[in-house]
Amino acid sequence: MSYQLLHKPIVSNWTMSRYCKVTLTLIGIIIGLLFIFVRSREYKLRQIYKLQNEIADIIDFEMEYMTREIFTEGDKWLPVAGINGHIYSAYFDPRPEVILKYSRSSANTFGEIFIVALLPTNTQSQHLTCVLQFEDNDRQTIFKKIPAQLRILNDHWDLEYSAFFIICDLTYKNLENAYDYRQLPEAVRIVHHHEDDDNGQFVDMHYPKYGMKQLSQEKSDFMAVCVPVLHHNFNRALELIEFIEYYEMMGINHFTLYNSSVTPEVDKVLTYYRTKLTATILNWNLPSIYVYEQTLRHEGLFAALNDCLYRNTHHHSYKYVGTFDVDEFLVPRQHDNFRDLMRDLDLYPNQNDSAGFIFRNVYFYTMYPDNVASRKKVPYLYTRAKTERLKMPHEPGKRSRYVVRGKDTVEIGNYNIWEFREGSLMSSEKEFKEYIVNPETALLHHYAPCEAEETGCYLKSIETDDIALRFTERLASRVEKTCSTIFGADGCPPPRKRIFGSE
Ligand SMILES: *[C@@H]1O[C@H](CO)[C@@H](O)[C@H](O)[C@H]1NC(C)=O
Ligand SMILES: *[C@@H]1O[C@H](CO)[C@@H](O)[C@H](O)[C@H]1NC(C)=O
Repeated sequence: MSYQLLHKPIVSNWTMSRYCKVTLTLIGIIIGLLFIFVRSREYKLRQIYKLQNEIADIIDFEMEYMTREIFTEGDKWLPVAGINGHIYSAYFDPRPEVILKYSRSSANTFGEIFIVALLPTNTQSQHLTCVLQFEDNDRQTIFKKIPAQLRILNDHWDLEYSAFFIICDLTYKNLENAYDYRQLPEAVRIVHHHEDDDNGQFVDMHYPKYGMKQLSQEKSDFMAVCVPVLHHNFNRALELIEFIEYYEMMGINHFTLYNSSVTPEVDKVLTYYRTKLTATILNWNLPSIYVYEQTLRHEGLFAALNDCLYRNTHHHSYKYVGTFDVDEFLVPRQHDNFRDLMRDLDLYPNQNDSAGFIFRNVYFYTMYPDNVASRKKVPYLYTRAKTERLKMPHEPGKRSRYVVRGKDTVEIGNYNIWEFREGSLMSSEKEFKEYIVNPETALLHHYAPCEAEETGCYLKSIETDDIALRFTERLASRVEKTCSTIFGADGCPPPRKRIFGSE
């Protein structure tokens, strides 16, 4: 008897299995490569940690005895030789994961220098060189040239100029007597490769106040707040006092403000807080090539924000850094201050990998009438007068602000966080993430005029929200006291009515 096949053998099954084999092999190779990658990343990280451990004493000794005053806050914009660009400040970043990601040297990099810069948007890394200035033991000045690496900051909108980090490697030079040779530069300048190395000005380095171990120590201060650039004759003196007094009352230790142009009245307020050491007021006079919104976005805002992050994390030692504009008040709805709020939000390292906390924005438009109970009350406080708000907070990322754990953050933007430190694979640390804070926990109250066409704003549905009133009596007496210290018998200046559509 002979059998005949009714069907041809099913070829596709066989192909499937070959397909499977190929896929499995590929997956195997990928896993293998990943394993090698992870192992080599881990290996390299270990090398950096090891190097840093070995030399920490020498580096700390040098930081302590650095001949020049290294803790100045006198930064200003200085030209880069041979190119239409400027540098502002320079920081020492010792994070091994950052070194691993950005170092261009093969070995012995123990830290990166992060320089805050404004450069033509199309500038390429290979065009620029870092020139480090050291002093040797005979007080002779020595220069060392190393390649620069550029990292354009996000949100730049492709205008002619943009904010950048310029990154330069610091490599350890192993000598018989390590104490004869300095490892840390006092200052750094940037030159274009067409230019003579002798040209251009130096910015002073900022080093961590507590040395190499600053980021891993527990005793950091609580939180610093960055206030984006005050520009175009900024004139809201009373609002600025309300802002600083509010945040200070809620537990903020320090403020960093960028002064581009302010009225004499505001200048008095700034001088007062600087004298009290509540605030650092930085000179932010931009050279004339940077034209507001025409050649550079937002008066160099992204440079200011990231300068503030590095200044308060890698020079001063604040655990958290937050960014808020003068008309924005972060109001906790259940907690009484920011310490309690952050204690509940930041569960790291026990449960969460969050290193950035996003607070959603809700408008309390200033065109809404003041609430009746607050009328005639002095001083005028936005947080007390305005209790009508849009029902819906904006989506995260739209005008939201944030608080970050500085040591785990590499780049911040206006409304969001752009880059966290990569986790160290040796421990259980993974990728750090941002966490969107529930609007029931805290909201960013934004006391501003309607940002678009006014009739449109009147059509949006609103509700009454007087949660901020639980803070405003205490706030009012603080503001009043400060006003009389600054302005004497004149007391608080009148509130500035803000014109619709103005920033
Ligand atoms: C703010 O900047 C202006 C303009 O450069 C300057 O005149 C003023 O002294 C600065 N104020 C403070 C407090 O730094
Ligand atoms: C932490 O993680 C848990 C579980 O994934 C999540 O429910 C919680 O909302 C997170 N909290 C924070 C503050 O990140």
